[in-house]
Amino acid sequence: MYQIAVMGHGVVGSGVVEVFYKNRESIQKKAGAEMDIKRILDLQEFPGCPYEDKFTKDFQEILNDPEITVVVETMGGLNPAYHYVKSCLLSGKSVTTSNKELVAAKGAELLKIARENNVNFLFEASVGGGIPIIRPISQCLAANDIETIEGILNGTTNFILTKMIREQMNFEDALALAQKLGYAEKDPTADVEGHDACRKICILASLAFGRHVYPEQVQTEGISGITLADVEYAENWGGVVKLIARAQKLENGKVLAWVGPAFVSRESQLSTVDDVFNAVLVRGDATGDVVFYGKGAGKLPTASAVVADVIDCVKHVQARKYLYWEDGSPDDVADPMAAEAELYVRAVSGQPHRALEEIKKAFSCVRMLSRSGAPRDELAFVTGRDQEGRLRGRLHEMSGWLEPQSVIRVLEDQ
Ligand code: HSE
Repeated sequence: MYQIAVMGHGVVGSGVVEVFYKNRESIQKKAGAEMDIKRILDLQEFPGCPYEDKFTKDFQEILNDPEITVVVETMGGLNPAYHYVKSCLLSGKSVTTSNKELVAAKGAELLKIARENNVNFLFEASVGGGIPIIRPISQCLAANDIETIEGILNGTTNFILTKMIREQMNFEDALALAQKLGYAEKDPTADVEGHDACRKICILASLAFGRHVYPEQVQTEGISGITLADVEYAENWGGVVKLIARAQKLENGKVLAWVGPAFVSRESQLSTVDDVFNAVLVRGDATGDVVFYGKGAGKLPTASAVVADVIDCVKHVQARKYLYWEDGSPDDVADPMAAEAELYVRAVSGQPHRALEEIKKAFSCVRMLSRSGAPRDELAFVTGRDQEGRLRGRLHEMSGWLEPQSVIRVLEDQ
């Protein structure tokens, strides 16, 4: 009998307990062993809960229980999750987590500890909720050199942008609706400012390229500055605005990674990913593009990924699974300003005719955009491709008479 502990009985943790007991028989068959949940750690009381007798507020009861071999961490946040997970791994217990903040910040260290202690540290649920993506990258696509990973990794912001695009709802109203429907957190900063997507692309890039990419190394911008004017200009250009997370292995071995709003062409598969759905496109040198699509959040989809990891831990108690990346260094990550890009710019100018002439001189292949009802002092254009730092430098040189209100990357068509 394998005994499991669940740390954190919030949305995902309670989902893990629910899925486990609902499907216990088939889960045990798949694991080839009998399993039970022995302890649930949470500081809150859950009177009347059918598993009331399993609750504890004391982490030591889990850590010091030799019967518990697999620990689920669904507390979220770095502290105390990091300390608890590290202690469990050091004491020879396998851990499975949905906590992307933890994996993005401490993945290399925790994987090393797991390896040294011959236990598993698995985190399928940390990216894309119920969408299988960690296992496919580490196992099914293992024969490929992965070139690029790009996608829509945050459901809340995708819901907000979909409302802005389809219903011309402004950002504030769309955010309020996302909160009302329970998609966005009460404090939605991590979603709307791109930090959540940044943590997820760090995990995928580390896994795909073999060295830890840390969140502070990834240039990250959210969608709080996107207006309905930008949405209209994107439509006129031939696409939509999406919050994109992207990581690419460059020829010099460095990783180019960024998170931010981007103009996505209607031809791209990512342009049709709407509402709370996520999609991840993985480009391998042998497979070409492979796309993973589904609900990237939610209690039961995320819990299903956690429980699948628990099954894997039980099946691999003797022979641990190979899931590993090395620690990274500042030199591993490229400066996006040195890479080629194309930018959409919306700006205002006191001298729009003069500005138009100067824009055409400054940017090769510039394409002017239009929208109905645009104020006379507004100009919008797409620059043509060049080094991003050079493009932004030219915009800066014009700052006396051209005031950019919005600068958004154009996602390159493949
Ligand atoms: N807040 C996240 C999202 C939840 O909206 O995608 C899943 O990580």
